[in-house]
Amino acid sequence: MSDLPTATLGRTNLEITKLGYGAMELRGGGGRRARTVDDDTAGQVLNAVLDAGINFIDTSPDYGLAEERIGKFISHRRDEFFLASKCGCPINLAPPAEGQRPAHVFTRENIRAGVEQSLERMKTDHLDLVQFHANPARSVLEENESVEELNALQSEGKIRFLGMSGTLPHLPDHIAMGVFDAFQIPYSALEREHEQLITDAANAGSGTIIRGGVARGMPAAENLDLSGLPDRFREMYEQRRRRWEGANLDDLMEGMSAMEFTLRFTLSHPHMSTTIVGTANSEHLAGNVDAARKGPLPDDIYQEALRRLDSVG
Ligand SMILES: NC(=O)c1ccc[n+]([C@@H]2O[C@H](COP(=O)([O-])OP(=O)(O)OC[C@H]3O[C@@H](n4cnc5c(N)ncnc54)[C@H](OP(=O)(O)O)[C@@H]3O)[C@@H](O)[C@H]2O)c1
Repeated sequence: MSDLPTATLGRTNLEITKLGYGAMELRGGGGRRARTVDDDTAGQVLNAVLDAGINFIDTSPDYGLAEERIGKFISHRRDEFFLASKCGCPINLAPPAEGQRPAHVFTRENIRAGVEQSLERMKTDHLDLVQFHANPARSVLEENESVEELNALQSEGKIRFLGMSGTLPHLPDHIAMGVFDAFQIPYSALEREHEQLITDAANAGSGTIIRGGVARGMPAAENLDLSGLPDRFREMYEQRRRRWEGANLDDLMEGMSAMEFTLRFTLSHPHMSTTIVGTANSEHLAGNVDAARKGPLPDDIYQEALRRLDSVG
């Protein structure tokens, strides 16, 4: 039995831990932007996630070896966790040109092929949630009858609930569609652009799954080497670093580490259901679990942090 705080994932009624796990860090073996994480480490981390009582895991066909590793190392514990993956990721399509991001394809055929592949890779007969990856516009979904294909997979018992990994500018439209049981949305103290939309999604009855909830570890990183990153990622990190330093939050931490503070800030959003923190490091996982057990920040600290973060934009 886990002592991690839980929440109901909107109208799915799934009772999930407010600290979830994002499996993206387990994608390498090498390749585009993938750090090297070996099989032994992946197996240890996935089992430690479940041993800690975390019961919500997010992944994607796009995350290299991650789905296969879930199948290999924890499919025998499938009744201990809810499993969310994505769709629209290219399946059996030509790889992108060097340096290009893979295009996502929302045809009925590609969506079905992706779900079937996820089931096979993860050795399971159902996915609890399938989210459209890469934020497709409502018009793209309608032209392709993409939601209808997920409904068909739902009626076959292969998936339970429908989700969207969405961001501005399309997210308000996605919420208005009324078909999504849960939304995956980026958010942290340093990335607050979707703060109100998390509330809007929850008020519409959907669950809210926060990604980026520890700001990719940036508050704890010293002398970050950004030299190998593409320009747009480097600029994003530099902007967040300026926000973190400009907000001057040190005196609010009261003995907390920067990572505990950052995670508990995310947990303080009144309308978040879970935050799917990614890590391939067992010590980081244990620290995140300890922080999540403590729950949201004390309200006076949270309000003052919001005020200071507002002042740096
Ligand atoms: N479009 C989409 O749908 C989309 C996009 C991105 C991500 N996601 C999902 O969201 C999940 C999380 O997103 P994210 O990786 O962007 O953000 P995140 O969870 O904020 O950051 C993960 C990074 O933070 C580091 N980290 C975690 N805990 C730490 C700790 N206690 N101390 C220091 N560093 C720590 C990890 O490195 P270590 O491994 O060294 O701990 C990892 O590099 C992904 O795994 C994926 O499932 C979805």
